[in-house]
Amino acid sequence: MTVDIRLVLASVGLLWYAGLWAVGLLGCWAARKRYRLRPRSPLAAAPASSVPGVSILRPLKGLDTNLYENLESTFVQEYPNYEILLSVADENDQALPVAQELISKYPNVNCRIVIGEEMVGANPKVNNLIRSYRQAANDILWVIDSNVTVHPGTLARSVDALVGPPSPTVPRKRIALVHHVPFAIVTESRIGSRIEEAFLNTNHAKMYLAINTVAVESCVMGKSNLYRRSDLERVNASLKPIQSSDPTAAQPGPCGLPVFGRFLAEDNMIASSLWHELGARHDLSCDIARNVVGNMSLSDYIWRRVRWIRVRKYMVLSATLIEPFTESVVLAIICASSIRYLFGTQLWISICIHFALWMYVDLDVYASLAGHPLPASIRWQFGAAWVARELLALPIFLFAIFGSEVTWRGRTYRVLRNGEVARAEKSRSWFQRLRQPTNYDPIDAEL
Ligand SMILES: *[C@@H]1O[C@H](CO)[C@@H](O)[C@H](O)[C@H]1NC(C)=O
Ligand SMILES: *[C@@H]1O[C@H](CO)[C@@H](O)[C@H](O)[C@H]1NC(C)=O
Ligand SMILES: *[C@@H]1O[C@H](CO)[C@@H](O)[C@H](O)[C@H]1NC(C)=O
Repeated sequence: MTVDIRLVLASVGLLWYAGLWAVGLLGCWAARKRYRLRPRSPLAAAPASSVPGVSILRPLKGLDTNLYENLESTFVQEYPNYEILLSVADENDQALPVAQELISKYPNVNCRIVIGEEMVGANPKVNNLIRSYRQAANDILWVIDSNVTVHPGTLARSVDALVGPPSPTVPRKRIALVHHVPFAIVTESRIGSRIEEAFLNTNHAKMYLAINTVAVESCVMGKSNLYRRSDLERVNASLKPIQSSDPTAAQPGPCGLPVFGRFLAEDNMIASSLWHELGARHDLSCDIARNVVGNMSLSDYIWRRVRWIRVRKYMVLSATLIEPFTESVVLAIICASSIRYLFGTQLWISICIHFALWMYVDLDVYASLAGHPLPASIRWQFGAAWVARELLALPIFLFAIFGSEVTWRGRTYRVLRNGEVARAEKSRSWFQRLRQPTNYDPIDAEL
């Protein structure tokens, strides 16, 4: 019996294509269900003593675009019991005057500035946060980036999701972390910013929501996360379940935020550790983390994507390797050639239908998150940026997958095999790297 290899390939291709559509439609459905209606949480108007206290930690560094508005959004949270800790590593940081101005504008909000970093690893955000982490008065922490702005109802709804009553009928795992899907806001119409917007607000959100709906693996971007310090104090970034039946047991050795300073994507590692070590789950509230994208050029955009692919490659290799096969351009080729082989349809017809439907779903995701359809005023810019994003995905991936150096906030780091990073003081040539593998530099030696 002979097997027609082309028939097999075409069938597998079509199945893969259908599977990816199922994932995309799941993301689109999840976005509609979760974000089109945002009810106010009863916690917002409850007496302060009846709600759990929250410490909001905001690491600051320099003048991010919209910094004043971003920080202000945490001063106006409709929640009766919270404090804000603004951390800066350096007492001359340009963000300090902005922070002080807000503190005098809102004297009734319990807010203080924490100055100084502690070197626990190569990740500057973690170093900057350590003191606030130790000084926070409450167990629930909300860590939110300086370039993120949120709706005033976000905290109440997120606490609801974190501590909410476990459903009595469907037993579910404990929620240890609540996150918010990032949504880009463009303040300057530069090409890189537009492409970042087209990416985050469509394809990225769609996949993020689909993966978090299926919930087979931790998938969190750390723009805005709530978790309990008492939970973080039990995990040690090993991703191995705690070997004890005591529900309050901790891992042996050092635990808590300091152990995450070794990772560049500390947010991702924290989420994975809570998931795997505690066996807990994540939840999303129906809020978005509005991420104000600053002045980004095309190369800023490309380097940003390269950075995340390189970091991800060492954390989840298999998921990173299949990434190109989930992108619209590669899928168009797979679908059009499979359909031509199986049904004789001309390539261009399948390709046009594929892209039209793909874009339609992406715009529906946009509308769910934004709360309105794509504004007509940016229709063409957004459309062009969307096309550019789709076309750039494969070349950026191919470039990123070979290499391990990343640049973040002006510093170069080397990603080590397990997703840890080390500061790369000087670049080596590819030849030196071949002779002397770079993956073994101990991080402590660099600090
Ligand atoms: C972290 O926890 C794991 C699993 O319990 C354990 O094997 C490992 O030794 C711990 N790491 C450190 C540095 O103590
Ligand atoms: C927002 O801030 C985070 C952490 O400070 C940084 O990693 C990220 O690149 C910033 N994002 C944008 C779009 O500027
Ligand atoms: C954005 O950056 C470019 C190049 O660095 C600069 O020419 C432009 O003035 C900047 N735009 C704004 C609004 O800051």
